[in-house]
Amino acid sequence: MMTPLKHILCIVGTRPEGIKMAPLILALKREPWARVTVLATAQHRDLLDQVLALFDIQPDVDLDIMRANQALPELTARLITGLDAKFAELAPDVVLAQGDTTTVMTAALVAFYRRIPFGHVEAGLRTHDLDNPFPEEMNRLVAGHLARWHFVPTERSRQNLLREGIAGEAIHVTGNTVIDALLAVASTDWPLDIPLDKSKRLLLVTAHRRENFGEPFRAVCRAIRRLVDLHADIEVLYPVHPNPNVSVVAHELLGEHPRIRLCAPLDYAPFVEAQKRAYLILTDSGGVQEEAPALGKPVLVMRSETERPEAVDEGVVRLVGTGEERIVEEVSRLLDDPAAYREMARGVSPYGDGHAAPRIVGVLRNGLAG
Ligand code: UD1
Ligand code: UDP
Repeated sequence: MMTPLKHILCIVGTRPEGIKMAPLILALKREPWARVTVLATAQHRDLLDQVLALFDIQPDVDLDIMRANQALPELTARLITGLDAKFAELAPDVVLAQGDTTTVMTAALVAFYRRIPFGHVEAGLRTHDLDNPFPEEMNRLVAGHLARWHFVPTERSRQNLLREGIAGEAIHVTGNTVIDALLAVASTDWPLDIPLDKSKRLLLVTAHRRENFGEPFRAVCRAIRRLVDLHADIEVLYPVHPNPNVSVVAHELLGEHPRIRLCAPLDYAPFVEAQKRAYLILTDSGGVQEEAPALGKPVLVMRSETERPEAVDEGVVRLVGTGEERIVEEVSRLLDDPAAYREMARGVSPYGDGHAAPRIVGVLRNGLAG
């Protein structure tokens, strides 16, 4: 008698979830024992659509959740009711989601209420500070405590879960699927349709964290403006996140400068190309902290803490906070001191080797395929 296919429901909500779930969705779709359904909450609309199109993934279900400038309580409420209706209708055997967004926290919670086993991809990241990053530290704590399978990127993240009392047999060190996605894209040279001055060193900037909204982000913008005025040989490329708390301020404080290029968020492939062309990267992003070291690019992180300490320990990522003076100082140091720069520009990849997705599939196959 044929064993029935296992129905795996893969959830994606925001841009980084799209990037990090894509290698896993594509690998699962090749498995003969699995039936894969892709559910896009579309917590992000355009940013998610770009990524799914690049990897040729068409969602089977789209909740179309995003609203302009969405507040966390209403986002959470709409996700819970939307996901619950679909989990009831689809009755999957397993729900999989990646990371620490509101989509992931609510997917884990609804799977728990419906008693559907939940697999957490990129599990075990912690700062141990609920305010940094906000609300992500809470989101991953909730998802982490509801998961049946914890797919952790590193040994450090495994230790975090063990300390919280998660059973060792439920934790699998797989690496991070972001490196699978990165390697699939980075080997090709992609067009970057932005007129950059090749004679200048490129400072690539991204910023979007909620805890930095308001004065911290204004200070970041002031620092960037001072930096281009201090260093005539640099050019800034800054793909601005569409969140109005970011985009309005970025355009107000950084617009109209001949060496600051503000642009709409780049599609993933051109953004990887921009990382490859960058001299250094200034960011508060999680994913960029993982990708840039693998591309040999120094990263200065505009946060006071990180859940990704591995690259900091390797000396290729440095936390610089959001203070104006400190950012000017740290960027200037890397621009002016070639030895300090070289020290941070070593290509290392503590988060993965590009084979995380097949490892996760292997664990699920062992656990599910009869
Ligand atoms: C969300 C995640 C954050 C993740 C980030 C990745 C939460 C609470 N936050 O932050 O963990 O690091 O995604 O980028 O889950 N917007 C658009 N178009 C888009 C996407 C966003 O216009 O395609 C605008 C909308 O006005 C939206 C706002 O950005 O309301 C905020 O989106 P939201 O997903 O709530 O938060 P992010 O800051 O993007
Ligand atoms: N990224 C992108 N286009 C951009 C900026 C970032 O494709 O204009 C990619 C980046 O390479 C990384 C991911 O988006 O893989 C990170 O997303 P984000 O910084 O929004 O979220 P986080 O990783 O902080 O959750």
